[in-house]
Amino acid sequence: MKLQVEHIYKSYNRNKEALRDVSFTLHKGTYGLLGENGAGKSTLMRMMATVDFPTKGEICYDGKNIFSMDEGYRSLIGYMPQNYSVYPGFTARDFLEYMGVLKGVPKEKLKHRINEVLEFVNLSDVAEKKVKTFSGGMKRRIGIAQAIINEPEILILDEPTAGLDPKERIRFSNIISDMGKDKIVLLSTHIVSDIEAIANELVVMKKGEVLETGNVDNLVQTVKGQVWETVVNQETYQKLRKERSVIHLKQMGKEVQVRFVGERYPDAENQQVEPTLEDYYIFTGGIMNESED
Ligand SMILES: Nc1ncnc2c1ncn2[C@@H]1O[C@H](COP(=O)(O)OP(=O)(O)OP(=O)(O)O)[C@@H](O)[C@H]1O
Ligand SMILES: [Mg+2]
Repeated sequence: MKLQVEHIYKSYNRNKEALRDVSFTLHKGTYGLLGENGAGKSTLMRMMATVDFPTKGEICYDGKNIFSMDEGYRSLIGYMPQNYSVYPGFTARDFLEYMGVLKGVPKEKLKHRINEVLEFVNLSDVAEKKVKTFSGGMKRRIGIAQAIINEPEILILDEPTAGLDPKERIRFSNIISDMGKDKIVLLSTHIVSDIEAIANELVVMKKGEVLETGNVDNLVQTVKGQVWETVVNQETYQKLRKERSVIHLKQMGKEVQVRFVGERYPDAENQQVEPTLEDYYIFTGGIMNESED
């Protein structure tokens, strides 16, 4: 089971490339696609779900071009677009039945499978309610339910946690982590803590390009020994912020507590701290500095 994205380019118009030479390979596991707004996450996912085409490049599943696999590929994947809108007149159960039939789930299996996915996304109680009466988070969950109805081998979820409350977020993290055991799961987010909770592998995108790929823990360890916390006065802070990547700060009266990545800061007491994914992400430039652009 191997999904290869090879040198993908995408231009929506002549003067701007939304994706530029994007390459990576996915195996069984849970991957987080991390990138700020406009990085190209949705554009890439649409192509991986074959609902849009690259300008250049190939995407292959076990060596076969996914665009020439047609139905064969569609039956392997589950996809939830970012702006998922469901058929508002349907009840949750009817909607899932409709999607199940579309995706070729065998009739004799479908009823049982619908109950299973409703349970999964915690919507069993409202199965007979119309989807249009659902809250934003509930609509998100029915979107996830339709994506997994056909037990896909490849699951592509574009910002699945957007609008979920903390309880549902945890529930969802557990479900998705579980699925990564025997599937390829790719989910996009711009929330670093989502990645920590759900994904083992990371693809970082910025401005249409892939900055970095790899195992989350390994990537975090690359900034080990370079993450510090210190308390400095305002004047020193103004200097520090120009010379180091500041992760966060806390005002403490006249002084500022700062967490930063880079070399130890001279003339101040620095305390080395354990790196987190956020430290790594900011340090590698996944997040644009205010001064850029
Ligand atoms: N249909 C389209 N026509 C023209 N430009 C588009 C279209 N869709 C996306 N773009 C452009 O492509 C770039 C990447 O957009 P995309 O939606 O893939 O980013 P994203 O990483 O998903 O962002 P977000 O976090 O906001 O969802 C942006 O510059 C965007 O303006
Ligand atoms: Mg998007």
